[in-house]
Amino acid sequence: MADTQILPPTEDGIARAAELLRSGALVAFPTETVYGLGADASDDRAVAGIFAAKDRPQFNPLIVHVASLAQARRYAVFDDTAERLADAFWPGALTLVLPLRADAGIASLATAGQPNIALRMPDHPLAEALLTATDRPVAAPSANPSGRISPTTAHHVLSGLNSKIAAVLDGGPCPVGLESTIVGTTPHPTLLRPGGLPEEAIAACLGAPLARRRTGEITAPGQLASHYAPRGTLRLDADTPEPGEAYLGFGPGDATLNLSASGDLTEAAANLFHNLHQLDASGATRIAVAKIPDHGLGRAINDRLRRAAAPRP
Ligand code: TXA
Ligand code: MG
Repeated sequence: MADTQILPPTEDGIARAAELLRSGALVAFPTETVYGLGADASDDRAVAGIFAAKDRPQFNPLIVHVASLAQARRYAVFDDTAERLADAFWPGALTLVLPLRADAGIASLATAGQPNIALRMPDHPLAEALLTATDRPVAAPSANPSGRISPTTAHHVLSGLNSKIAAVLDGGPCPVGLESTIVGTTPHPTLLRPGGLPEEAIAACLGAPLARRRTGEITAPGQLASHYAPRGTLRLDADTPEPGEAYLGFGPGDATLNLSASGDLTEAAANLFHNLHQLDASGATRIAVAKIPDHGLGRAINDRLRRAAAPRP
């Protein structure tokens, strides 16, 4: 890919960044916490591009950024706690994990196929202008290669992702410099990740301390029990299906469903959760899955497939 464009924090720069996002391209943008690597969260293929650019070995769910509370309500169900927290701290460094609406139209890759969604309204004039101009939900993890430090300047973004993303909107340094605090509300308010908004402020707003994830419970969302797995059993690295098996293919050849007939890993990532859901809905009890090359996005696909294939409690 060509060098990443640096867009100025002007009306034209914002308009160009919005146009790129709406066309499915990746654009890094400033928020008050850190620079986010944005993609249209309603476009599975665009979201798959985030994992490819970051070289992320796992499909963790991503935070979906919105311009307003009204927009957020289209994607998630807000209970009283969520309403109260959004009212107190949005826009700001608080991410809420809430039940996903069935008709949200959010790419399943953005929620890692889970029935909930992480939502945030950033408190940054450029982020707000960009989200408003884009008029789409925008999935955005921190704009750094996997395993590297979160970027707080456009220069940091370029040093990690130059030529891997279409553009970066340059808004200077991020004031908070630390990722958002993540809170889940179901079944009770729980701190999922400490961050830029102090826990005490949240507890004071709710009038009660936040619950913690119990120890021994998952830290990485990829290990969440609620993480999507089909009801049927999965057999991986299968060259051909056995009698009675549905076949999830990759590359040319006959298959019940094909992740990517042309063997394209980005397309395969975009189709992964949909295809697993489709096979589930078809009632398949045994699913054979073609071998997926273990490089680039293939590593994240294989990680997800191995989890789905693992014995369940
Ligand atoms: O400050 C921030 O939050 C930055 C800026 C760009 O907004 N974004 C950010 O995103 O830190 P990311 O993708 O690096 O962190 C997302 C975290 C993940 O660790 C994931 O565990 C959690 O949010 N997360 C996302 N969706 C979730 C969900 N549905 N359930 C539980 N955790 C979720
Ligand atoms: Mg990060």
